[in-house]
Amino acid sequence: MSKKIMIQGGKPLNGEINISGAKNAAVAIIPAAILVDGVCRLENIPNIVDVMVQLDIVKGMGAGVRFLNPTTVEIDATHIGTDEPPYELMRKLRASYYLMGALLSRYHKAEVAMPGGCNFGGVRPIDLHIKGFEALGAVTSIKEGGFVCVEAENGLIGKTIFLDVVSVGATMNIMLAATLAEGTTTIENAAKEPHIVDLANFLNAMGADICGAGTDVIKIHGVEKLHGGTYSIIPDQIEAGTYMAAVAATGGSLTLNNIIPKHLECISTKLIEMGAEVEYTDDTVRVTRTDPLHKTNIKTLPYPGFPTDMQPQMAIPLCLADGASVITEGVWDSRFRYVDELRKMGADVHVDGKVAVFNGVPKLMGAPVTAYDLRAGAAMIIAGLAAQGETAISDTRHIERGYDDIVGKLQSVGAQIEYVEVADEGGEN
Ligand code: EPZ
Repeated sequence: MSKKIMIQGGKPLNGEINISGAKNAAVAIIPAAILVDGVCRLENIPNIVDVMVQLDIVKGMGAGVRFLNPTTVEIDATHIGTDEPPYELMRKLRASYYLMGALLSRYHKAEVAMPGGCNFGGVRPIDLHIKGFEALGAVTSIKEGGFVCVEAENGLIGKTIFLDVVSVGATMNIMLAATLAEGTTTIENAAKEPHIVDLANFLNAMGADICGAGTDVIKIHGVEKLHGGTYSIIPDQIEAGTYMAAVAATGGSLTLNNIIPKHLECISTKLIEMGAEVEYTDDTVRVTRTDPLHKTNIKTLPYPGFPTDMQPQMAIPLCLADGASVITEGVWDSRFRYVDELRKMGADVHVDGKVAVFNGVPKLMGAPVTAYDLRAGAAMIIAGLAAQGETAISDTRHIERGYDDIVGKLQSVGAQIEYVEVADEGGEN
């Protein structure tokens, strides 16, 4: 048996949703807990598969992992006994690459499986991570079976590292490796995403000495050890943005609680151009859409630009806007695989490399579609909610990797959406 998400579309969304902790911060902060001598208490943990896999990985390495309540977990890595994390779990998760930086920092050696994770159709290299580790004194080798081994026999020594491409993962991984290194590491052309700042804040709260996170130059002054403490993970920018795009597509009015307004500016700017109203308080945002949607253009860029992880979701209101809207993907080589599924629902889209033109249509129609990756899956849900009739989404496991109870949260604001168990049909993957 497998699961599908069934949606009866065409209903506006109205009400309130609480936003969970940020996936891309949590999946970096959990391995960062490996650097800590003592107990880290992490609050605002999202209940998503990627986070549970990451917790299972550190548990498999011997860390104590204990939930105090559904959103608070304690990790005690004081006595972790191995530098080899469980390979099969690592292969499931792209963010398992953060184990490399963390283990290198603590043990001066890491041997990990080549990371798996979201496949949205393009190449996802880790050369910049390796370049950073090597600059700090590590030697890298690729071993049989797809393992990467990084080792710094004489320890890591701080250096200045210029990233050729702005990379979230490389910035975080080098930050992890440099935290317990000797001397000062400077990352130039660093990524500035909210989860970079969150990782630095977590490490500093545990005794690290990192400054500049959130700018393009980050300085990490190595310290001897980190101590335990309590830290609350930031709200998920992309989860909030996903519900903002959903209400833009369906019409209605949604209030999202537990958000950081600054993180959502790039998204609300586009929604306002499309005709939605957006109102903030200190930690809530209300998005209302009653009038017809206007076309707009979007180009994804590293933060504070428009996030690539919101690109597929924002495509749905653009499918229904007046005229032709252009989306240019500026981060990944290819992230338009979901467009084929949208065409089944009546969307009029032309893709040429990194550019997609969405010619607005009056309505989308429900159809059987596949969630090819996490954000594509979220886009399929939004399309189903906005479409006339029934949409059945298969391969929902991708969605569960990154959205905390998306079906329950949408039901609570008036969506007709549910999971159904279906007999395996074969042929899908
Ligand atoms: C992170 O992936 C996120 N994942 C992705 O979110 C997100 O799409 C991406 O950042 C960009 O914001 C996590 O945080 C776990 P990158 P990451 O290194 O770190 C090139 C989601 O939907 N590059 O910033 O793997 C790369 O090809 C996921 O939540 C190199 O050339 O992305 C890309 O063009 C999917 N060499 C660009 O940099 C490298 O060594 C940005 O990638 C690394 C990256």
